[in-house]
Amino acid sequence: MGSVLPVSGHTRVAAVIGDPVAHSRSPAVHNAAFAATGLDWVYVAFATEGGQADRALEAMVTLGLGGLSVTMPHKEQVATSLENLSPLARRLGAVNCVAWDGDHLVGHNTDATGFVAALAHEGHGVDGATVAVVGAGGAGRAVVAGMLDAGAARIHVINRSPGRGADAVALDPSRCAVGEPSDIAAADIVVNATPVGMTGRPGCPVPLGLLHDNQVVVELVYDPVDTELLVMAREAGASTVDGLGMLVHQAADAFRLWTGVEPPVDVMRSAASSVAIA
Ligand SMILES: NC(=O)c1ccc[n+]([C@@H]2O[C@H](COP(=O)([O-])OP(=O)(O)OC[C@H]3O[C@@H](n4cnc5c(N)ncnc54)[C@H](OP(=O)(O)O)[C@@H]3O)[C@@H](O)[C@H]2O)c1
Repeated sequence: MGSVLPVSGHTRVAAVIGDPVAHSRSPAVHNAAFAATGLDWVYVAFATEGGQADRALEAMVTLGLGGLSVTMPHKEQVATSLENLSPLARRLGAVNCVAWDGDHLVGHNTDATGFVAALAHEGHGVDGATVAVVGAGGAGRAVVAGMLDAGAARIHVINRSPGRGADAVALDPSRCAVGEPSDIAAADIVVNATPVGMTGRPGCPVPLGLLHDNQVVVELVYDPVDTELLVMAREAGASTVDGLGMLVHQAADAFRLWTGVEPPVDVMRSAASSVAIA
């Protein structure tokens, strides 16, 4: 992993706000990218309690922060507070990245674009695909929106509680439907957008026998990187994309928005992996 360049009076600061945030991989990922590209930037984490997002946005303006990442529990509040939102962030009502456009702030959702970019990086297109998304929380909604924009033909949203599943389907009822686990077998792309499989929540969100070759199975869980779902998918002959893919590519899209520089994705992936196994 690259180290941070010497900090001076010219150094620009980017940050993440969230609670909890101490275990975020974002500082390692972004500082490695700044070092690799020679940019005089540094990235830090600010633990910010729920309800304090507006004050963090004011601080971004007052202190002239170059960019802001937004994580739980602030994504919806920031979308409500900012006047200027990307079309995607407005549709989702959630912002995970704030960038400058001239002298005003704009809220973006790079979870959605980063998810699609992670697939593209591994050679997997979304255009015309039939998709099954398991889980319909904040991440599941972002995945659905990203794949709609990327041209998915049909998206089955499979969620434990029907209400949240229906909310995700409402993003585009003409191409989305509330689905059942059996829909997974007919999907070209299968996504786990639940926490099932992460450390402390073992298990697999997809029933046995539904995965096969000619499928791409995408995990959002990144701790551990290799989950029960990914193991089962490989055994079934499917292609896989792990949770570090979305993590890295949402950061890469944010880096591009803040700096205008092409992000060093491989360096960022390596930094994210180093933290994951620390
Ligand atoms: N790789 C990345 O860059 C990235 C980015 C964002 C999130 N994530 C990961 O994605 C996962 C979801 O995040 P989130 O922000 O969407 O969380 P969230 O808003 O809390 O939503 C969680 C979703 O998972 C479902 N769920 C939870 N426990 C379940 C269980 N035991 N069985 C079946 N379904 C269950 C929930 O269903 P109900 O609606 O019924 O409660 C809900 O749909 C987390 O593991 C998070 O770390 C990864």
